[in-house]
Amino acid sequence: MIENLIQNFKKEFNTNDSVEVFFAPGRVNLIGEHIDYNGGKVFPCALDFGTYAVVKKRNDKTFKMFSENFKNLGIIEFSLAELIYKKSDDWANYPKGIIKTFIDSGFNIDTGFDVLFFGNIPNGAGLSSSASIEVLTSVILKNIFNLNVDMIEMVKLSQKTENEFIGVNCGIMDQFSIGMGKKDHAILLDCNTLNYSYAPFLLEDSSIIIANTNKRRGLGDSKYNERRASCEEALKDLKDNGVELSALCDLDNNTFAMYKHFIKSDEARMRAKHVVAENQRVLEAMNSLEKNDIENFGLLMNQSHISLRDNYEVTGLELDSLVEAAWEENGVIGSRMTGAGFGGCTVSLVKNDYIDSFIKNVGEKYKNKTGLEASFYIGNPGDGAKKLGDF
Ligand code: GLA
Repeated sequence: MIENLIQNFKKEFNTNDSVEVFFAPGRVNLIGEHIDYNGGKVFPCALDFGTYAVVKKRNDKTFKMFSENFKNLGIIEFSLAELIYKKSDDWANYPKGIIKTFIDSGFNIDTGFDVLFFGNIPNGAGLSSSASIEVLTSVILKNIFNLNVDMIEMVKLSQKTENEFIGVNCGIMDQFSIGMGKKDHAILLDCNTLNYSYAPFLLEDSSIIIANTNKRRGLGDSKYNERRASCEEALKDLKDNGVELSALCDLDNNTFAMYKHFIKSDEARMRAKHVVAENQRVLEAMNSLEKNDIENFGLLMNQSHISLRDNYEVTGLELDSLVEAAWEENGVIGSRMTGAGFGGCTVSLVKNDYIDSFIKNVGEKYKNKTGLEASFYIGNPGDGAKKLGDF
């Protein structure tokens, strides 16, 4: 595939010069949803599919960007002097925003480059195609401009770009897992301190199956920001009433029960209830893994989905139908929505002997209920973003 991408780059940019090739994965979150921006612990892994880039530095101050996924948009061009968000630049706003954030942070980027991107993460599926291209662009900048910046810093700059340039108030989970992923491992990340550890997630006789609702997220971004605002409201009510905490995840289920009446709106209280309980589920899930109790890990995944459905209200017909169909299947250890919700994907742990029947039956039931065709992928935990080589 890489050979093909290089050929396409050479055709598109009409050159025979040598190029550099980079890769950044997508990610799937196993448990710990909507708590990264509440100081919680999350347990995602990078995937072995993602976004590729073929790059050649230029001598002038122009950037020329082409995506194999959006061929109809052709080459999108802008200069170092006009790093501003432009609707017509579509997907290229992500790499453009990264370049701006790096420059604003004092990094010396004095020329442009030509780049061809290709992603095999389905767009808008909640597997972080946007964080993938952000971290990928960060790694490109580090390499071609010899920047002295480490991966955690690049992760933060990528999140900052999403927050400030793109306007989605996301937490740090996606960029972190994409930057710091490790083959065959999931990452336990404390979003409060950014302490992290790797947990082997090589399941002996079962696999991570990702199912895509193929429902585009649509208004997802504004609803995402609304959820975040409700959490901030709950936190403020608690603090205003003298509860000492810096983030909702400082509470456990018992302390939440003691203080929840301080949260004025029913909605914000319900959102906070999810956040606190979800963080506790992650801790319990880690205990289960240590004891090799994958069955309990699966039950916690199911509970996570129920809370995202009933308390956080980010699921909807498509995600619920996929997950409910999964719960009815033999060989399913656990199943839940993953990512922001409002469409996108589910993640299930399925015994290997049952993968075929799972895909057939869940696919059929889903189609009967929603009229949509689901897609299924095996989620192998992969490495984080990196340079693949000079060609
Ligand atoms: C999106 C955001 C993440 C995280 C998840 C929900 O993927 O980008 O920061 O909040 O939703 O867990």
